[in-house]
Amino acid sequence: MPPDHAAPPLDVDRILADPGVRTVVCCGAGGVGKTTTAAALALRAAERHGRRTVVLTIDPARRLAQSLGLTELDNTPRQVKGIDAVGSGGELHAMMLDMKRTFDEVVLTHTDAQKAADIFANPFYQAMSSTFAGTQEYMAMEKLGQLHAGGEWDLIVVDTPPSRSALDFLDAPARLSRFLDGRMLRLLLAPARAGGRSMFSLVTASFGMFSRAVQKVLGAQLLSDLSGFVAALDSTFGGFRQRAEQTYRILQADETAFLLVAAPEPDAVREAAYFAGRLGEERMPLAGLVLNRVHRPVAPQLSAEHALAAAGRLDADGGHGATAEALRVHAAVAQQAARERQVAQLFTEAFPQVPVAAVRAQPADVHDVDGLRTIGQAMSQVD
Ligand SMILES: Nc1ncnc2c1ncn2[C@@H]1O[C@H](COP(=O)(O)OP(=O)(O)OP(=O)(O)O)[C@@H](O)[C@H]1O
Ligand SMILES: [Mg+2]
Repeated sequence: MPPDHAAPPLDVDRILADPGVRTVVCCGAGGVGKTTTAAALALRAAERHGRRTVVLTIDPARRLAQSLGLTELDNTPRQVKGIDAVGSGGELHAMMLDMKRTFDEVVLTHTDAQKAADIFANPFYQAMSSTFAGTQEYMAMEKLGQLHAGGEWDLIVVDTPPSRSALDFLDAPARLSRFLDGRMLRLLLAPARAGGRSMFSLVTASFGMFSRAVQKVLGAQLLSDLSGFVAALDSTFGGFRQRAEQTYRILQADETAFLLVAAPEPDAVREAAYFAGRLGEERMPLAGLVLNRVHRPVAPQLSAEHALAAAGRLDADGGHGATAEALRVHAAVAQQAARERQVAQLFTEAFPQVPVAAVRAQPADVHDVDGLRTIGQAMSQVD
């Protein structure tokens, strides 16, 4: 659907058809439709553009996961059946990120079996690999790196975690790899090696990154577990950092297209604008903004004022209750569309060059392949 504001239209098909585009990353605030958009784009790339596509989803809604054939976290792409890609020759594969298993794989590739077993057995690792803030973002990037390195995909579409802030996706990996690269841990371990209870409080006081939950789980064991963890993980520190840097380079490459997803609400649009600014600073290629779940009147030429005035006249004449009601519904949608356009301007005024596509709010949740196809069509300008 063409956006009816000044921003240039986003040509999703040009991006999906371009063999030079190998990675599409869908970012945005929580709940705006990142997972839906990622899956819809991947489906369209396979069906319309014949690309061998994989979509990396993160925490998809259960019904959507099921209709993509994802019944459990299994961390490897599965081919999605029941898509219409006979003509195009494309393929759609989907996977759900298993954060813990991805972390385990990283450890395994960087250390020998015995050390890996020590790491896995360590409660600190267990807590961190499944609960540490930022682990999911880091592992999403890690998985992207793996899929990319495999070289078997024409196009990788990446969904991003349901973070409070879209920026977490860019910030968390750096934070985590700084943590893992050992300097901070070594700092903490200096007092730990000296032993003593007071050191425990020193550590916890100086290390705000530990959540209360982690402390509770680990309790007094923390220091010994932590030193064991660091000793065992020592060989992988460089590896972690190097991999985070490699993935950053993928994100900066010309073959990558970031799509921001935002609902037409002030917070989500503001978040998208922050993110766009950050992408600019990081020299990461922003391809466009998808405004998701917008409302548009079916008869845009009829203004809300006219519709309300006509409804009033019908009321006065009597006998046209249903028509008057339809006019009032139209007026409400037209007014909502106008508000949404104003909100979208928060973004388009700050980034007038960034192309925008608008996707209508569907009457129900999008949880199957047909629904995804509809979203893909809505996103593209040609249909
Ligand atoms: N255009 C649309 N019309 C109607 N429903 C939609 C639309 N886009 C997304 N939804 C629904 O909104 C809900 C949230 O979408 P989705 O899971 O894609 O958001 P998300 O940004 O990935 O959320 P999170 O940040 O929690 O990961 C889902 O139930 C989805 O089916
Ligand atoms: Mg999601």
